[in-house]
Amino acid sequence: MIYNHLIRPILYKIPADTIHPIVAGGGELIAKIPLIGPALSNYYRVDNPALRVQLFGINFPNPIGLSAGFDKDGRYLDFAHTFGFGFSEIGSITGEAYAGNPKPWTRRLVKNQALVINYGLKSEGAEKIYSRLRNKKPFLPFGISVAKTNRVDCVGEKAIADYVKVFKTFKDIGSYYTINLSCPNTADGTPFSEPETLKRLLMEIDKARTEIHSSKPIFLKINPDLEKTKIDQIIELCHRFNIQGLVISNLIKDHQKAKTYLKYPEEYNPSWPGGLSGLAVRQISTECIRYVYQKTQGSIKIIGCGGVFTGDDAYEKIKAGASLIELITGFIFNGPATIRKINLRLLKLLKQDGLTNISQAVGQE
Ligand SMILES: Cc1cc2nc3c(=O)[nH]c(=O)nc-3n(C[C@H](O)[C@H](O)[C@H](O)COP(=O)(O)O)c2cc1C
Repeated sequence: MIYNHLIRPILYKIPADTIHPIVAGGGELIAKIPLIGPALSNYYRVDNPALRVQLFGINFPNPIGLSAGFDKDGRYLDFAHTFGFGFSEIGSITGEAYAGNPKPWTRRLVKNQALVINYGLKSEGAEKIYSRLRNKKPFLPFGISVAKTNRVDCVGEKAIADYVKVFKTFKDIGSYYTINLSCPNTADGTPFSEPETLKRLLMEIDKARTEIHSSKPIFLKINPDLEKTKIDQIIELCHRFNIQGLVISNLIKDHQKAKTYLKYPEEYNPSWPGGLSGLAVRQISTECIRYVYQKTQGSIKIIGCGGVFTGDDAYEKIKAGASLIELITGFIFNGPATIRKINLRLLKLLKQDGLTNISQAVGQE
């Protein structure tokens, strides 16, 4: 109530790019203050065995994670814990540093409950982020989102080497990897979600994995609007290269189609660079989750992402086949109590369905 009626209207008056480091950095500081940090986390964290998820030997205290992009440089791990998340994904991290595209990086579409995101893979680069995290003792499991440096000459084999550099740098940090396939700069401009290009990338990742003796699970993060034949080919490659899961999904990048996913299209200008998050992605990502789950019968694990604002949204994706959930936009719009509310609602929904653990609901439509 206080957040929606008092704090949010003030935050909306400040550009999103200005507010993000203030809120996230402030939250991280508060999380570290003795007594206050623990008191906040006591309030925001919902600790219940019914919400615990065990996946690939990783213990997630609840199924709701902070998606890649909020904590690009690994600065806000305590923030994620304090505000109730069950895990977080840091990055996307690229081989070399990149200062980001010209601003604005974030545009709010308030009526649509969506954001237009155009950071362009801003990153401090693998080495710097690694040294920040090297001695951290995080409360939560966290994933490493791996991408390639956004530079015109980082294409083709160089781009693949850049992905591999990040992958190897983080060999002893993080619980899982996500390879972000929405990096368009291959030599001929085709994205890494194209099966031939993806095959080359996965061959090199597989080699690197053997070299560094990594047993961490690997997820691929895909766009929500891929054609079914492409998704089928990606699934095949996952089986072939022992990729454990998919993160479904990233932003909607297709500017021609973007307006069709918005309830108030007049709020959006297709000439704005960047991809759409939030409500615009909800349905299309859930449909993609359902498709992959039914096709693979659970042999590929899914992290569901896109337009989750409430417990009902999260439960819908879990029932469609997601084992875990990630979100950003719902948290940005609805504030610090979002994850607590989602987890409390999940407990109610589980009870209604007569289930004792959230994993029992996966794929149970
Ligand atoms: C501010 C912001 C930055 C993002 N940056 C990244 C990124 O660096 N890497 C990535 O894989 N996804 C990134 N995303 C996409 C999100 O991780 C997520 O897939 C997408 O926003 C859909 O979820 P949501 O509707 O809950 O925001 C970003 C999203 C937002 C809102």
